[in-house]
Amino acid sequence: MNKAKRRVVIAGNWKMNFTPAEATAFINEVKPLVAGKSGCDVVFCAPYVTIAAAQKAAEGSNISIGAENVHFEDHGAFTGEVSAKMLTECGVKYVIIGHSERRQYFGETDTTVNLRVKAALAAGMTVILCLGEVKEQRLSGITREIVSMQTKLDLAGVSAEEMKRVIIAYEPVWAIGTGLTATPEQADETCGQIREVLAEIYGEEVAEATTIQYGGSMNDKNAAELLAKENVDGGLIGGASLVATKFEAIVNAAQ
Ligand code: PGA
Repeated sequence: MNKAKRRVVIAGNWKMNFTPAEATAFINEVKPLVAGKSGCDVVFCAPYVTIAAAQKAAEGSNISIGAENVHFEDHGAFTGEVSAKMLTECGVKYVIIGHSERRQYFGETDTTVNLRVKAALAAGMTVILCLGEVKEQRLSGITREIVSMQTKLDLAGVSAEEMKRVIIAYEPVWAIGTGLTATPEQADETCGQIREVLAEIYGEEVAEATTIQYGGSMNDKNAAELLAKENVDGGLIGGASLVATKFEAIVNAAQ
């Protein structure tokens, strides 16, 4: 299998942006812009309270609405958390797990990321698993070791069959929200290294079939070059997913 056979996924990560009313207006604006663009799957991951409004606005379109996190327990005394069962009952199929902002600001570790991944998969969801190195790690030349370790730890106990519902988002932390984008070569190289780790764990077939996105200041200007790379199968987009015409340009670049 090669790039042409892998599913390309362009996913927006709204982070803590858009109220339900704002999300409705945004989806209504972006919907006609991405309609009929069958060369990629289009997803927006929304704050929990915004999901229902976004889903309603997206009805009948090619846009799927996902969540930005999920807890690993089914229910219980975990104030402020939301379970996979709650999300699936609301018709949510996609969920971002392990975003660097969760790891940096909310104490998530590879251990809790792994638990969340397994819980989401067990509930039948498709996971967008985020990983990537921080600036010091890239400068010290240990990016490969870092992403390899994260891939192994975050996917521990995940079966080859379940990997059909895992998308990996390679997101160098130094590129997120900074306007600094990895070069297409850096993105391709590290996505390729992640694919090699997947081959070690699951074999070539699973590795070649897995969608690996790049994320970190992907925008309307740089998307085409990044998405043209052999190992880059889509994007996880923060800032540019809040502007309909920028997001449209990224979807167009993925066709
Ligand atoms: P950015 O965010 O596109 O604003 O850099 C990407 C992400 O955090 O997923």
